[in-house]
Amino acid sequence: MKGFAGPVALTDRLEKSKALDRPIRGLAKVVRERVKPGRLRDVLHGVPIGEPLHPSMASVTLGCWVSVGVLDAAGADSRAARLLLAVGIANALPTAAAGITDWSSLHREQQRVGFVHMAANLTALGLLSASLLARLRGRERAGKALSFAGLGIGTVGAYLGGHMAYRQAAGANHAPQVTHLVPLGWHDLCPIKDLPDGRPVARRLGYIQLFVLRRGESVTVLADHCPHLAGPLHQGRLVMQDGEACVVCPWHGSTFRLEDGSVKHGPATAPAPMFETRVRRDGTIQVRPLT
Ligand code: FES
Repeated sequence: MKGFAGPVALTDRLEKSKALDRPIRGLAKVVRERVKPGRLRDVLHGVPIGEPLHPSMASVTLGCWVSVGVLDAAGADSRAARLLLAVGIANALPTAAAGITDWSSLHREQQRVGFVHMAANLTALGLLSASLLARLRGRERAGKALSFAGLGIGTVGAYLGGHMAYRQAAGANHAPQVTHLVPLGWHDLCPIKDLPDGRPVARRLGYIQLFVLRRGESVTVLADHCPHLAGPLHQGRLVMQDGEACVVCPWHGSTFRLEDGSVKHGPATAPAPMFETRVRRDGTIQVRPLT
């Protein structure tokens, strides 16, 4: 409809708006400094479960709060509503910790939407906490009004979260398609003598870019696009961590084991697709996706 800015147009505008960039930059820096690389950060990103932790935790919180709305609308037992409110509020805190940790390592356009998503959800959390307090003091009507208001604002927050996940692909794996784009079987890549020893380079296989690392006679080949947000892995640093050779993505520091492409440290939660390699008698390296 002409002249009507729907939610998609508004969110697209938010993505491009620089109005909040200063607080966004400051907050992201503080989060990265406070939540240092290590076990806690990996857990908050969801590395141990192989997918971002925030969305599944958020669905528990939102599910509790939607259930409160249903119980209130049906005039059901107020004790159940109080219990669900309390569970949702308790779960909101680790959910927010996981979300803000992910958010601190996103592109600026994603951070702009994420910042408003966070503000909406914190407002909802405040209203639902006030609702619980009001109910505990016996003010049921005020409690219901506050939780309906919180649910309304939480719905805006959930919409923005959906925009980040499905339209901006924050948290999605950015590399799984690579193995589907390579036809089955072995493919010539390049002569081994053309590769520098001990330094990763990018090579193309058709229209796919690969990370190629030669170490002596051994060659490691991964998809070059980092699964986190498609950063160029061939520009990353090679490191040894806990006796394992790894590559560190130059964009946000995701660390992948060279042995099998698995994630050593987030923010990535999915492995870098790996290719099997062999060297022909004439010195040509051949690759095929590792299935
Ligand atoms: S693109 Fe973010 S860590 Fe690689």
